[in-house]
Amino acid sequence: MNNNNQICPWWMGYALLIPLRKLGQNPHKILGPYVSKGMTVMDYGSAMGYFSLPMAKMTGDSGKVYCVDIQKKMLEKLSKRARNARLDHVIEPLLLGESYNPEMLKNQVDFILLFAVVHEVPDRDQLFRDIYKMTKSGGSVLFAEPAAHVSVQHFKHSLKLAQEAGFGLSENKPMPKGLSALLVK
Ligand SMILES: C[S@@+](CC[C@H](N)C(=O)[O-])C[C@H]1O[C@@H](n2cnc3c(N)ncnc32)[C@H](O)[C@@H]1O
Repeated sequence: MNNNNQICPWWMGYALLIPLRKLGQNPHKILGPYVSKGMTVMDYGSAMGYFSLPMAKMTGDSGKVYCVDIQKKMLEKLSKRARNARLDHVIEPLLLGESYNPEMLKNQVDFILLFAVVHEVPDRDQLFRDIYKMTKSGGSVLFAEPAAHVSVQHFKHSLKLAQEAGFGLSENKPMPKGLSALLVK
């Protein structure tokens, strides 16, 4: 992971699932303030679903979790995990270049998670415009990047692109450490 749009290899998806990760990045603590029952949410750059499965538990049976990724292998493993956890009726994997179409989800999503993915996307400007399009009015986006791999300057530039796409920047910092921001529509 770095500032050069290098895509996280699919096998790294397994490392992202290790239980120890919960000590520093507990999905329920991080997402609790933003995700609730019945919501339509999105985990953009979901990989194998470290955050997606907890999100599905939080939205419950009446909610929907769209999981977007560019790598089929990540989404295949995510689907298997969702089936095993009996959450496959809530989780919908969407593959970039195939089933993912931001136009179809225009103004439909209450909350979008962009966790450790934006620096991997070559066209950040287009990404934030698509994310803005899909977010409902009053909805929000938790945007976080790994400080070990992304410079403050790169993060700030991403924030500028998000604002140019139309997002406002909340004064609330969603995570106490590292690079994170809450974008609001
Ligand atoms: C470092 S991983 C983070 C995964 C997950 N958000 C987490 O925190 O566990 C980044 C993920 O973003 C995906 N990705 C990279 N470029 C993407 C793009 N343009 N659109 C959607 N997903 C992308 C990668 O395939 C990878 O699964």
